[in-house]
Amino acid sequence: MYQYQLHQQISLPVLEHTIDVAGKDNLFYSRFLANSSEIADLYQSLYGNHPNASNAFTELLQTITKAYAERSEALKLKDEEKEESGNWFLTNQLAGMSLYVDRFCGDLKTLNTKLDYFKELGVNFLHLMPIFESPAGESDGGYAVSNFRKVDPRFGDIEDLQKVQQSMSDEGMFLMIDIVLNHTSFRHEWAEKAKKGDKKYQDYFYMYDDRSLPNWYEETMPEIFPESAPGSFSYVPECNKWVMSVFHNYQWDLNYQNPDVFVTMLDTIFFYANLGVDVLRIDAPAFIWKQLGTSCQNLPQAHTLLRLIKQCVQVAAPGMALLGEAIVAPKEIMKYFGTDRFVAKECDFAYNATQMALQWDALATGDTRVMLAAQHEILQKPYGCSWITYTRCHDDIGLGYDDSMIAAAGFNAYEHRRFLKEYYSGALPDSPAAGALFSVNPKTQDARISGSLASLCGLEKAIRKNDPEEIERSIHKICLMQAQSFFIGGLPILFYGDELGYTNDYSYLSDPAKSYDNRWMHRPVIDWSKLDRIDQPDTVESKVFHSTKRMIEIRKKLQAFGDYKNLTWLTPYNIHVAGFIRSYGKQMVYCLFNFSGAASYVTWYAFKTHGATSNKLYDHWTETELNIGGDQEYLIIPPYSFCVLEVMK
Ligand code: GLC
Repeated sequence: MYQYQLHQQISLPVLEHTIDVAGKDNLFYSRFLANSSEIADLYQSLYGNHPNASNAFTELLQTITKAYAERSEALKLKDEEKEESGNWFLTNQLAGMSLYVDRFCGDLKTLNTKLDYFKELGVNFLHLMPIFESPAGESDGGYAVSNFRKVDPRFGDIEDLQKVQQSMSDEGMFLMIDIVLNHTSFRHEWAEKAKKGDKKYQDYFYMYDDRSLPNWYEETMPEIFPESAPGSFSYVPECNKWVMSVFHNYQWDLNYQNPDVFVTMLDTIFFYANLGVDVLRIDAPAFIWKQLGTSCQNLPQAHTLLRLIKQCVQVAAPGMALLGEAIVAPKEIMKYFGTDRFVAKECDFAYNATQMALQWDALATGDTRVMLAAQHEILQKPYGCSWITYTRCHDDIGLGYDDSMIAAAGFNAYEHRRFLKEYYSGALPDSPAAGALFSVNPKTQDARISGSLASLCGLEKAIRKNDPEEIERSIHKICLMQAQSFFIGGLPILFYGDELGYTNDYSYLSDPAKSYDNRWMHRPVIDWSKLDRIDQPDTVESKVFHSTKRMIEIRKKLQAFGDYKNLTWLTPYNIHVAGFIRSYGKQMVYCLFNFSGAASYVTWYAFKTHGATSNKLYDHWTETELNIGGDQEYLIIPPYSFCVLEVMK
């Protein structure tokens, strides 16, 4: 409905920033008008009853207009190009990597000299792990930000970041960084002011005079780091109060019930947008709204907030997509893409953490039934949104898929998870994996898993035993895991070091700022002096690097690997093999993954029932042609191998 007063309200900042409504800024103005009712409604539903609601709304409209006014012409042009190309991020042409700038190569200036490395591998999308100021000893890998606008001097400065962005953009690459929305460091200016008793800033956080409300909250709030940071509140001696700190005690949760917090953080989002960020990773969005008596996760208001952010970003910086880093149960994750009239209007991306964990499940058990039992949920993702697909990232692996999925495969959920934890933590004597349990909850025995891709796939133990066969087997596993995440649909993001087969790095144990958090074992420091091994054919580095590179090439060659709701799972004729078809126009590609340590057989009949239009297949991985045989014959897939079979004309 047209709202005259709202129109008038928008006119004020628009005039102030001399927006050319009938000329060059007409598209922006149209977007603003078109989205304004939605913005106002979403805002009202969160803040309508707040005493400062009206002032903060005026600020909100100002913030949007200022963001657009300050956006460079180059970025505005890029916005238009992206809008014209439709959903630019669904394409098969993207392949990503996530990295810590310091551990990858030192600093931002050096990163700018490494773009050829990514080009060689085929990576054209970078996720830079947090680079804004964060106290060295209490940083949670940069996720405890003390200044949202100052690049931490360890990495360089904002100009260095801008140069990296510019060079990447010149090379046709895309940039992702984080907004750590849920909390700040306890050293952030707002926290420091709150400690000194400034009421305005105490209201930026959840601060209480005594333990009564904290106790009440904690009754229903699960602990995130039960070992290293039990509980959800910390005592603040400076002001004799308790503050909510869901993650570590040095990460204070921002209070989004206060509209000033929302508007200030929206301004930060636009600051990042105007640096030229293509995808903004919203850290821990499941936690951004708290309510007594609930788990304080995945609350409806958290979704309202994300929708509000999406609407605002769409007006001022429409070329920036949003990734919601919600690592939550399969049923919950789908809501981050939006529900009801907001379908495909919340986050553009979410992590396919369920699929990631299920690949690890299948690798340990050699059985793909749990993976298959979960797909009816995963397939609910709406058109126009996409997954980040991955095998490893900087975080732990959580086995958070539903018990019912495990039960559907005929297993006991408790025993099954216990087996997986023992398998990957190395507690099972015969397990090839070398990982560790992360955040064991002594009350529930819940635990997640740490370890690098290579170590969890057996490479670390194989090298230790100097066993060439085991080494080969683990490389096969690495490729199998990566292949499924490259071909299943979404934007694949490699974790740096995995393209070289880096095993666990245990040096974190001697650093007191890291030793309490074993996620550091899979966050390696890259040794560039050893990188010439990529060109020495018999080395692990060369084998893994070139295989990864070839998978990216195959992905980019076939449009069917774009994410267009174009995936059909194959009838499971063999429990060891997961298979799906990717299609695009007339292109049809069968992808089959054998998670067993033995060769597996798949009846050729499977291809006929799924509509192969010719008898000839081309395997892009082995670069061989195959003929679909008789119904009583089989395609044989070697142990821990996969095939990418395109139906030939
Ligand atoms: C996200 C990050 C994780 C961090 C947490 C708290 O989950 O991925 O590394 O510890 O947020 O910021």
